[in-house]
Amino acid sequence: MNKNLRKAVIAGNWKMNKTRPEAKALIQELLPLVKDADCGVVICVPYTNLETALAATAGTNIAVGAENCHWAESGAFTGEISAPMLKELGVEYVVIGHSERRQYFGETDVTVQKRVRAALDAGLTVILCIGELLEQREAGITEEIVGMQTKAALGGVSREELGRIILAYEPVWAIGTGKTATAAQANEVNHYIRTVVEKLYDKEAADGVTIQYGGSMNAKNAEELLDQPDVDGGLIGGASLKAPDFAAIVKAASR
Ligand code: PGA
Repeated sequence: MNKNLRKAVIAGNWKMNKTRPEAKALIQELLPLVKDADCGVVICVPYTNLETALAATAGTNIAVGAENCHWAESGAFTGEISAPMLKELGVEYVVIGHSERRQYFGETDVTVQKRVRAALDAGLTVILCIGELLEQREAGITEEIVGMQTKAALGGVSREELGRIILAYEPVWAIGTGKTATAAQANEVNHYIRTVVEKLYDKEAADGVTIQYGGSMNAKNAEELLDQPDVDGGLIGGASLKAPDFAAIVKAASR
């Protein structure tokens, strides 16, 4: 499968970090460092930073994403934010199904699928996270788990809509732990996910879908991971909070 058919996307996932002034400062530091990027550059920031990030990146090559959205358009869902609300702000991307949502906030394959539907209906591009727990890897069921997560989340997503889906393979044991999957492990699972997409749609769709790797990707290991034929970018947590580190990963994806 031809990597040149796909656009690499490096997305930062800031998680629950940065006040507005801190967000603005980080973006201002980042802008000159990534302005010549030859890949997609996205920062997914807390809701409270969305307007700040949109203003600071207006007219630049950095796109802005949210870290979640609800499945309803509006209604009695205290504390939630809907996809149309994000779209109206000018947000382009949204992370859905992150393992921290699954682990700590009761997110399931069913709610992930509903959120994906809502995000697509609102016109957003989805960064869809999937990945196995350490026990699942050790039990030898990584492919079953990521296959099921992928199929569940893409249920009802048309072939045309797939163009607004970025898959992010994030082994849960590698997130925030400093324990990166080896380049071979990342590529193996990314390749498997691509075969799942091929079965759901067709070869052209599988060839075209961007599949990121996420989990302790940093300035040092990015090049080796991004060199893999099925790794089309990264979803970056910790290292996205430091402009030089994030920029180094963007650079590695731009070669
Ligand atoms: P990490 O997080 O880079 O800090 O491991 C990745 C993620 O959660 O998306």
